[in-house]
Amino acid sequence: MAGFETLIYEKRAGVGYITLNRPQVLNAYNIKMRDELYQVLGAIKQDPEVRVGIVRGAGEKAFCAGADLGEFLTAPPPVFARQARFERDIWGVFLSVPQPLIAALHGYVLGSGLEIALFCDIRIASDDTRFSVPEMGLGIITAAGASQTLPRAVNRGQALEMLLSGRWVDAPEARSLRLVNQVVPRSELMATAQGLAERVKSLDHLLVRNIKEAVGRGVDMTLEEGLELEARLAARTLTMAG
Ligand code: COA
Repeated sequence: MAGFETLIYEKRAGVGYITLNRPQVLNAYNIKMRDELYQVLGAIKQDPEVRVGIVRGAGEKAFCAGADLGEFLTAPPPVFARQARFERDIWGVFLSVPQPLIAALHGYVLGSGLEIALFCDIRIASDDTRFSVPEMGLGIITAAGASQTLPRAVNRGQALEMLLSGRWVDAPEARSLRLVNQVVPRSELMATAQGLAERVKSLDHLLVRNIKEAVGRGVDMTLEEGLELEARLAARTLTMAG
């Protein structure tokens, strides 16, 4: 897939690399990027050759500095925006990707940038990464999932405090909050993400899909429901193996 304006999509040796590619504006998330991400994630979902995805940001300074403020200031009326969202449920597509998605984070990870990272399954950050959710200070409520995904990653109080204060969280603190899985030197960021991707690729892909489904859906269930889900997936895995 080629010819995107805001993304680079590359498929190499079973790994789908999605690079947010507007470095001149710190990879700010605009409507075009939403549409292109929707297209790429839809393609990854259907592509059996892609065993794992890595999402990263182009340029030295940022993974993504949040919603494009220029576009945001000329935003369409709410009814139109809601209709557009309905037609392009980008966050629903993120959740429905069966392959594991790894976010490789560096520099600024703000607002929608953090929300994209939170829709990935595993977050690896370089030691220069800085996080913030500035929406409240701009007079808006988060609309790309942070009010739901952030408290599922860190705890409820920490999530609310980040959302209300908009304060900066550096990489070591993000690790201690469990917002990211791992912090590594910038020079090792891609190698670390690729190392994990290699490990995932070495596993049976149906097992990988099933364990992602068990963990991803299970966290929103009661323990009893989650154990039933696990039993169903285990049975399905055995059937497929047989
Ligand atoms: N939307 C649109 N453009 C953005 C942007 C955004 N969210 N974030 C940064 N940019 C642009 C800047 O306007 C600047 O463009 P210019 O070179 O044409 O002036 C370019 O990216 C580089 O940013 P700059 O501000 O010079 O970098 P910095 O290192 O001094 O500061 C930030 C970085 C992230 C602290 C600062 O850019 C910022 O506060 N951005 C807005 C973050 C935000 O509020 N996001 C929205 C969340 S809802």
